[in-house]
Amino acid sequence: MRRLVTTALVAMALTASAKSIKPMKPFIDDLMSRMTLQEKIGQLNLQVAGDITTGQAQDTQVAGMIAAGQLGGVFNLKGVDKIRALQDVAVKKSRLGIPLLVGMDVIHGYETIFPIPLAMSCSWDIEAVEQAARIAATEATADGIDWVYSPMVDISLDARWGRVAEGNGEDPFLGAEMAKAYVRGYQGSLTSDHSPLSSNTEVMACVKHYALYGAVEAGRDYNTVDMSHQRMYNQYFPPYKAAAEAGAGSFMSSFNLVDGQHATANHWLLTDVLRNEWKFDGFVATDYGSIGEMTIHGLGDLKECAALALQAGTDMDMCSQGFLHTLEQSLNSGRVSMQDIDRACRRILEAKYKLGLFADPYKYLDPKRRAKDIYTDANRAASRRLAAETFVLLKNEANLLPLKKQGKIALIGPMANDRKNIAGTWCVAYTPERYATIKEAMERAVGSQAKVLYAQGSNLTRSEALQRAAEFGKNLERGDDAELKAEALRVAREADVIVCAMGECADFSGESSSRATLEMPDVQRELLEELSKLGKPIVLLHFSGRPTVLTWEAEHLDAIMNVWFAGSEAGDAICDVLFGDAAPSGKLTVTMPQALGQVPIYYNHLNTGRPVSEGETQYRKYASNYLEVRNDPLYPFGYGLTYTTFSYSDVTLDGRRASVTVTNTGQRDGDEVVQLYIRDLVASIARPVKELKGFRRLHLKAGESQTVTFDITDDMLSYYNHELRYVMEPGDFDIMIGPDSRRVKKATLTVQ
Ligand code: BGC
Repeated sequence: MRRLVTTALVAMALTASAKSIKPMKPFIDDLMSRMTLQEKIGQLNLQVAGDITTGQAQDTQVAGMIAAGQLGGVFNLKGVDKIRALQDVAVKKSRLGIPLLVGMDVIHGYETIFPIPLAMSCSWDIEAVEQAARIAATEATADGIDWVYSPMVDISLDARWGRVAEGNGEDPFLGAEMAKAYVRGYQGSLTSDHSPLSSNTEVMACVKHYALYGAVEAGRDYNTVDMSHQRMYNQYFPPYKAAAEAGAGSFMSSFNLVDGQHATANHWLLTDVLRNEWKFDGFVATDYGSIGEMTIHGLGDLKECAALALQAGTDMDMCSQGFLHTLEQSLNSGRVSMQDIDRACRRILEAKYKLGLFADPYKYLDPKRRAKDIYTDANRAASRRLAAETFVLLKNEANLLPLKKQGKIALIGPMANDRKNIAGTWCVAYTPERYATIKEAMERAVGSQAKVLYAQGSNLTRSEALQRAAEFGKNLERGDDAELKAEALRVAREADVIVCAMGECADFSGESSSRATLEMPDVQRELLEELSKLGKPIVLLHFSGRPTVLTWEAEHLDAIMNVWFAGSEAGDAICDVLFGDAAPSGKLTVTMPQALGQVPIYYNHLNTGRPVSEGETQYRKYASNYLEVRNDPLYPFGYGLTYTTFSYSDVTLDGRRASVTVTNTGQRDGDEVVQLYIRDLVASIARPVKELKGFRRLHLKAGESQTVTFDITDDMLSYYNHELRYVMEPGDFDIMIGPDSRRVKKATLTVQ
């Protein structure tokens, strides 16, 4: 009883001081001077609290642990009431009343879901992506969340890896721009202001997965990574660095090895690079169960792995309870020091301070906000608008698109009348019952002007392995393959045009969704083959969370639009573009291969000593090529069509200023993404054949021209050499500008 009274008094003292809270350092010094060793270690412990887990479900008796001061934060619990109940325990029942961090995997929106991150990167629209993150932050905070496990900024060159869906594609420059946009959008003023936040609509970002997770061998999730340091610095690090420099409040370490050590226990990575070089001053959490997994990698027992992780610079242990159960022993035996524990504890407390949780632990728990801030018309409109910018029109024979709202339109495919999958992988807070299917949106869009004839057409796949993935979460209804196909053919025969909504389902990409084949799943391809024999125009709305192989489709179908997974407004957004109320303007941020065997395929590769030229059509003995397919991708990085066309003038150079004039040569207004690539022709280590160094999104009216200029900065010409020094070496540089990474025009810049 006596203890309870004291607890309540201390807690009241903490909250009552809300308005007059001391500056961060003295506040935390004072708090830490009153903390026991166990309470400090408790702050380093993070547990899943609730509804959704990505690893083994845990019976953690969360509330009891909070009351005992054994938890610094919880995650993936949805709803203000549930969160308030736990925050109450922390504030009123734990000895010092230290509030909890409340995290969630808010990956591409909260309840208003935006397109998957890979799709958003294809918009090349930095402001729109920042706004998407801002909206996600507003919605998440309205529901009690103060910490989001995003952005995921892992570069990946491997289409087999399912988590390509969660990142920004293959390019480090674009990846860095996107990383900054997410951090700004989520954190707002938290980025620059370390005083307790006044706003309750800003969340702390958690940049993941540091580092190199996208380079897992063979694209198999959680697999080994091994690469040179210069490649890390030039190709894989830039987005993490950009996010750190943008002021991200936290980082998550990755599951993979880096130089044979676990990323979670790699001092060079977590301290020398992240903190000392990039000046990151937030905290690092592990990924789910990573410290425990280190034991399986053969790096020691739980006690040793926890000690290694702490000393390397990891501050918070997600779901291994390695810190909680072993650090006291390690301290007693001298394996870790009190400074190691204090350092990590201080970083967690600083994060809570920066979020303003000490000033008001309930600041994110206003029950009135849900109704006015979540899934609002304005948020949905932003998602719908951005979705159109993410669609990549790959082929549009004879300008089949946009379709006219007339006649009979056959809408066929397993994604055509589905509302659970089209939002995409990894939407923890989503409410699919509110989202429209393509069929519903199409019927609304055409009204009485045209007739929509729907048939599911096929199951997602016959392959048992893929079915298991699909049924994991957002399962689809199944029917008899032959009957479904017969019905689809009957419907298609009646129609003037066939629109197919096909491809992957949501769970074919994301975590633990690596694939060993990249073509259209069996039964869907068979149906397409039959449909293509009818001699009617066919549009493929292609769903995928990764680059796939569409070689057959590109040869046999009239129009193909990659719609990825477009979020909660996918149905309407797709119809906007299909019927020309909006135009597609996405450009690929991943290279699309002709064949699986080309993977990893990426535009910014190094040359070989025996290269073949782009577009070379014949196999050449003793050159670097394949027997069966050419080296060229099916669709290159940066590629994407729209409903108008653009011409580019030659590139002119005036000193360091490069210019081109871009003209809209078509009949409709449209958006274009003008891309600048640079090649360092001679350098002290081999440099890529081209690298993106700038881009500009333009809106041009039909017939309009605009001159676009890029100032070529030293930064654009610099790279990390073999000693990891950032250098600009004088000499010649190709300056290339164009609508994609292949169709560029070039001028040569000489730097003395
Ligand atoms: C994933 C992370 C995620 C975490 C928490 C892990 O399995 O790799 O991306 O943030 O779970 O759900």
